[in-house]
Amino acid sequence: MTPVRDAFRPPADAWSRRDFMRNGMGSFALLCTLGTPGSIGGRKLQTSAGRRARAQSPFAPFQRDLPIMPELSPVLTENGVDVYDVDIREGLGEVLPGMQTPIYGYDGIYPGPTIRARKGRAAIVRARNGLTFDSNIHLHGGYVPAKSDGHPMDVIAPGGTFDYAYPNDQDAAPLWYHDHAHGRTAKTLYYGLVGCYVLGDDREDALGLPRDEYDVPIVLADHAFNRDGSFRYAENVDFGFFGDTILANGAVAPRMRVDRRLYRLRFVNASNARIYDLRLGNGRPMVQVASDGGLLERALRRTSVTLHPGERVELLVDFRDYRPGSEIVLHNAGGEQTTRAVMRFDVARGGGSEEARIPRGRMRTLERLPSPTTSRRWDLGLSTTSGVQWQLAARGFDPSRVDVQTRLGTTELWQWRNPSNRSHPMHLHGMLFRVIERSTGVVPAAERGWKDTVGVAPDETVSVQPWFVPYAGRYVFHCHNLEHGDKAMMLQLEVVS
Ligand code: C2O
Ligand code: CU
Repeated sequence: MTPVRDAFRPPADAWSRRDFMRNGMGSFALLCTLGTPGSIGGRKLQTSAGRRARAQSPFAPFQRDLPIMPELSPVLTENGVDVYDVDIREGLGEVLPGMQTPIYGYDGIYPGPTIRARKGRAAIVRARNGLTFDSNIHLHGGYVPAKSDGHPMDVIAPGGTFDYAYPNDQDAAPLWYHDHAHGRTAKTLYYGLVGCYVLGDDREDALGLPRDEYDVPIVLADHAFNRDGSFRYAENVDFGFFGDTILANGAVAPRMRVDRRLYRLRFVNASNARIYDLRLGNGRPMVQVASDGGLLERALRRTSVTLHPGERVELLVDFRDYRPGSEIVLHNAGGEQTTRAVMRFDVARGGGSEEARIPRGRMRTLERLPSPTTSRRWDLGLSTTSGVQWQLAARGFDPSRVDVQTRLGTTELWQWRNPSNRSHPMHLHGMLFRVIERSTGVVPAAERGWKDTVGVAPDETVSVQPWFVPYAGRYVFHCHNLEHGDKAMMLQLEVVS
């Protein structure tokens, strides 16, 4: 099997799923060479060969069950601190049915194992870098001291280990973790270095939201493939990478058998550049309870949910509203022909007694922020003076330079002004912000909670108010379009006490 690093070479043998869509029967011959002939019965093919061949394409949606990522158990608990071991290494994933895709993975799987942590109970993630190049772990959305933040220059050399100390001293939130070694994140996240970090707390428990098997983290990312089943990547610094296939938890637009119960679906957009517009196929509403930084003040009915790279959303879907046997597709409404299907929910039997509920009243009261001490404007733009480089305020990332100093405990008004013709999902490490204003209209209720990433559309200015708590230290803020961030749309913030 080709080592993953070879997959970084330009594609010699690009394999587009369009081959299947265009060729009909032609794709059948191709399939037979892929080691899945047993799954294609000759007799069945005689009846509706073209349709059958399409249905058997490894890219056909709804063929596989949604993979549920394993939960990591602590290897030990020392003085109330849970210690987890994570191996950063190469692995093989069955992304396309019957094929092996080389990946980089936390513990060798894509997505990595889910870590479930608890507010008030610290954790240590002991990472070992088993790759042949530098790597690290950034806890995206986490209140984390600078030395454990996974700053892009703070990397673990091959063979090395590092203990990331996570205080878990923040409200329940759908965090995620990923590689952040500078200049390489577009590739390393694409090849698999992402995982969910689900932080829970008592307030959230009191709401009676769905738990256990009814609480499902789902990592979305778009990919493309070579003929041997390996991921295909081609760098595009202007747009960022766009694939032609949507993966949910590492499977092509999978199906999920659901009971007639209430489900809590926690979506992470781990795509390099793709923005999703999630909608249930039948136009029914979903109920959003949380965004990046945790619970909203009130649950919110939504029929369309936009998710920029790096953003998370928690949606409740009540499958009691559907008959057994119903198949409900979750669409990406803005997608191209092959990137519209995200996954499908297949409603099974009745669910027995339901303890979970959709919160009716106030779920939380958002903290009042101090008044901003100053305001700053960051222009988002592309520079071509020395190669193609994305910039913030006419500057590309320079690790030796601190671009802005702020005082611990204060807030400022930051304007992301986007005269460029691309969207930019702007992300700040180590703290959270509130979205104050959008030049294009009112800030939607879904964005009024705590956020760490916000999409800024072309010709738009988005004002946010970061709260510089809880730690002093040096952090980065950057565009989460991964190609933009790598080249080099990232600056440094130093919070001083
Ligand atoms: Cu999810 Cu600095 O990134
Ligand atoms: Cu960008």
